[in-house]
Amino acid sequence: MLASVHELDSGLRIGLRLTRPSDAPRVRAFLERLSTDTRRKRFFMSMPEIEERAVNHFTFYNPRERIVVAATAPLAGVEAVIGMADIALVDTGVAELGIVVDDEHQGEGVGAALIEAAASLAAAHGATHLRAEMLDHNAPMVRLLERLGRTVQTVEDGHVLAYTRLPLRTDRRAA
Ligand SMILES: CC(C)(COP(=O)(O)OP(=O)(O)OC[C@H]1O[C@@H](n2cnc3c(N)ncnc32)[C@H](O)[C@@H]1OP(=O)(O)O)[C@@H](O)C(=O)NCCC(=O)NCCS
Repeated sequence: MLASVHELDSGLRIGLRLTRPSDAPRVRAFLERLSTDTRRKRFFMSMPEIEERAVNHFTFYNPRERIVVAATAPLAGVEAVIGMADIALVDTGVAELGIVVDDEHQGEGVGAALIEAAASLAAAHGATHLRAEMLDHNAPMVRLLERLGRTVQTVEDGHVLAYTRLPLRTDRRAA
């Protein structure tokens, strides 16, 4: 699914690939373009300034512990990041998921494409469940998770936590 061009039902053509250190300017531009509302939904704060460590978080990582998938599309003829999904392998079988699409491209299927890629990478790393934290009830996010598998929600410390069971991998070869 990665490193290829996907045409979404909306007609938008996107690339899906892992981020790399040279993406720092593209990731910064993406984070800076997000509205305050979108930043709060993803990061639980308005982040008036994008700090270097936020950019580093999405571009430097140990792929055994954390993976960041970017959705890209040309903006004014130049490749831009328009969405990102990151998964961290936190507990045995559980991968923590964060996902965000820029305001201009929400509702076009970018989130669905990203979550499928992230879920498949998480499963390949041994995850059986995804965990996602939300500021509040978040209908598009819950919809994305429910499309993947059975999802239950709980409230902890005022945040909504969703757990989604990933589909069993059928291509796992017997050891
Ligand atoms: C959540 C988010 C990533 C979804 O990405 P997206 O590209 O807009 O999602 P899609 O276009 O793939 O749509 C996802 C589903 O949500 C549905 N949806 C969209 N807006 C909705 C709404 N207001 N109410 C209910 N469902 C909604 C869509 O119809 C779609 O379901 P379908 O495929 O069954 O039709 C995006 O809205 C976002 O970045 N939000 C801010 C950050 C955030 O909330 N992150 C989650 C916490 S980590």
